This record gives sequence, structure tokens and C-alpha cells, in this order.
Amino acid sequence: MNIAIIGSGYVGLTTGACFSELGNKVICVDNDLNKVDSLKKGSIPIYEPGLSELITRNIKNKRLQFSSSIKDAVKSCEVIFITVGTPALDNGEADLTGIEKVAAAIAVNMDGYRLIVEKSTVPVETGDWVRHTISAHIKKKVKFDVASNPEFLREGQAISDFMKPDRIVIGVESKKAKDLLEELYKPFNATLVVTNIKSAELIKHASNAFLAAKISFINSVSRICDQVGADVEEVAKGMGLDKRIGVSFLKAGLGYGGSCFPKDLDAFVTISEKLGYDFKLLKSVRKVNEEQLGFIFKKIKDSLWIIKDKTIGVLGLAFKPNTDDIRNSPAIGLIKMLQDEGAAIKAYDPQAMKKSKEFLSGVTFCPDAYSAARGSDCLLIATEWDEFKELDFARIKKLLKRPMVIDGRNLYEPKQMLKLGFSYVSVGRKSV
Ligand code: UGA
Repeated sequence: MNIAIIGSGYVGLTTGACFSELGNKVICVDNDLNKVDSLKKGSIPIYEPGLSELITRNIKNKRLQFSSSIKDAVKSCEVIFITVGTPALDNGEADLTGIEKVAAAIAVNMDGYRLIVEKSTVPVETGDWVRHTISAHIKKKVKFDVASNPEFLREGQAISDFMKPDRIVIGVESKKAKDLLEELYKPFNATLVVTNIKSAELIKHASNAFLAAKISFINSVSRICDQVGADVEEVAKGMGLDKRIGVSFLKAGLGYGGSCFPKDLDAFVTISEKLGYDFKLLKSVRKVNEEQLGFIFKKIKDSLWIIKDKTIGVLGLAFKPNTDDIRNSPAIGLIKMLQDEGAAIKAYDPQAMKKSKEFLSGVTFCPDAYSAARGSDCLLIATEWDEFKELDFARIKKLLKRPMVIDGRNLYEPKQMLKLGFSYVSVGRKSV
């Protein structure tokens, strides 16, 4: 199939690269000319394992192209995915300006039947607006369909999530749209959930909101564990092995961050309010998440007593491992709280240092974990990168001013840390 992807951000690039890998001819479009130029050379603006290789390979075999022209893409492709950003406005609503602009630009260039698929995360009823916008701008008397095909990719493992999905959701309102999308997704051999457009839009928001709720739930449980000396890791395991609950997304820690959960929860709460429903449950999920950083901050304070003029070595800046993304990163939030209290910060992250330098001032960026530990009053684990699991703690102990580890991600065994001679504080587990 000939496929156009409008918006070459994280979702657009992954979608375009994976569809081309499966043998389709794909044009990825972006209005940022510099970005398009770099992409043509195979240089991608984000760190996503495997994506760069996939893009380079498919540019070479001529199945993947990059362009700044929506016109060229619309003329040559029957299926057009919209993957532009839908950032949050100040009131929490999703900003759909980009979607509207792209829909209008597609409409004026359509010279035959087109299937326009929304893949960006959008509030329910956006499909209706896309249809109205296209109808209002269309120049030639041609037929078209709108569909919704939400993505469920996690940063850091986007390619495997795309290639081996748990399910593929397609929201359609015509047989032609359904047939085209079924054909496109045939090679995946995955469960296809076919719904109407509004249900598909809601599946996306409801899924992200539910996952965020699991995280806030276990973080709330961690508070109780802390009080009574229970172990939240054991509680999560014991709960999660019940198939109705499931073990994933029950990891207590610094709370959720990233470009999706915080924004999507805000958008879901706001659209619910607009539709006359006060989504109290999600408001609580959000509040618990906001409070989680304060809870960890208090743990640091309780351990160090005075934070002012202390040096804290921070391991991890990205909002989660295997990405360089620091948007809404709990690590960055915590660093700012510590700086406000007068702490000096020495930080290290395997991928997110470059982006962090633009957002943080007064931080000493270190070339590795050991340099961050050198001379620090304590070591704070803020992102659970695999390389932090393998640290030589005998060496760390010698480098720190005092052997203290505050583990915001429950990476280590309390007993083991005690044996190594550390004062060790984690989340929802007995401090040692
Ligand atoms: C999330 C969803 O998982 C994807 O399915 C969805 O497609 C994507 O948003 C999106 O809407 O585009 P992502 O934001 O990449 O993906 O990251 P997650 O792996 O979901 O993690 C989100 C946050 O939750 C991270 O800060 C992570 O550290 C935190 N988290 C996750 C926990 O604190 N505990 C957990 O058990 C799991």
C-alpha cells in the first residue's frame, strides 16, 4: 500500500518505519524542513532503540521517503495517517490546532478517494471534527472516509510494541475503511478490535488513564506499606498474579511522567467535564501522582536532615529508561525541588543529558554514575536504567561522603544494601 504519515514525531516515525519494513511504500511528512533534511540522511531527532537502523534500511530500499509536502503525499497515497502532536493547553484541553490544519491541507489536495486515519491521541468526537473540516475544505467531488487507529506504543520499546501489538484498534464507519485497514494490518496476525470511531478514540484515553490509575494505586499502597513495614514489591506481586489484576504497571516509585499520561489524563478529565461528567476518580489519580514527588522529597529530607548545602548525586534524568525524553520527568521535578531547598546536584543519565542541559541550570552533569557519586552526601536513584542495576557498590561506597542511597525506583534489595553497609531508603519498603 502507499501510505502517507503526516507528522514525523515519535509516533509518526515509528509508524512510518514499521509500515515500510512490512513492504508498504511510505512517505513521512513534516513541516520542519531541517528535520526532514536530517531524516532523509537517516538521522533521527530522538533516541528510540532500533528506530534509526529501521529508517536507514527502508530509505535504502526505497520504501521510506521524507517530505515537507503534504500535497505530494496526499496525491500519491490512498491511506493517510495523521500523527501530529496534540499538546495540552493551559486549561488541560488537548490543542487540536495541528489536527485541524492537517485535515484542511489534506482536503484541498484530494483528487480521489482517501482514507484519513487519526493516530494522534485525541479526545472523543475529534473524528467528527476531522470529517467536518475535510468536507468544508474539499475542492474536488471525491469520496473519503475518516477512521481512528490509536497507538499503544511505549517509548523505549516502540518498535516491538508496534510489530507485536496486544491488539489493534480500528474505529471505522464504512466497509471500505474497514477493508483497507484490515488489509494493512493483516501481516501482524494480531487481535483486531473493530469499533466505531468514538469508541476507538475512547479506548485510547481510557487505556492510558487506567494504566496511570494502576500506578497511582500502587503508589498509594506504598504509603501504607511504609507506615507498617510491609513490602510494596511483595504486595504488588501478590496482587498482580491474579490474572484479573495483572503484574504490569504496579511498580511503585516516583510516579508517572512522560509526554502521554499527564497530558492524556488532563485531556480526558477536561473532555469528560465538557460532556457533563466529573471524572473524580481520574482527578484523584492525578493528585496522588502529583503528591508522590513530595513523598520522596520528604524521605530525602528525613534521611539528610538539612538539605541546604548538601550534594546529591542523581542517577537518571529521563522520565523512564531507554529514552532520552525528559518531558514531565519525575527526576527533573525532584531535582528542581532539591535545588529550591539549596542542594547542589551532580547528575548522570545514559541518554538524557543533552536534553536535560537545556532545562536545568546549576547542575553538574557527570560522565558516569561513579562521578555523580564522588563527594556526594547521598545517591538518589531517579530512573531505573539497567546499567544502574549493575553498579559496583563497594566502589560507590568509597566515593560517597556517607554511604546513603535513596532509591526512588526500588532497584536494589534492602537486605543486600544493608549487608554492603549502606543506609538505604526506598519506596514502600522498610528502610535499612
Ligand atoms: C504510554 C503507554 O504505556 C502507551 O501504551 C501509550 O501508547 C503511550 O503512553 C502514548 O500514549 O503514546 P509511555 O508514556 O511511553 O507510554 O511510557 P510508559 O511505559 O507507559 O510509562 C509512563 C510512566 O509511568 C513512566 O514515567 C514510568 O516510569 C511510569 N511507570 C510505569 C511507573 O511509575 N510504574 C509502572 O509500573 C509503570
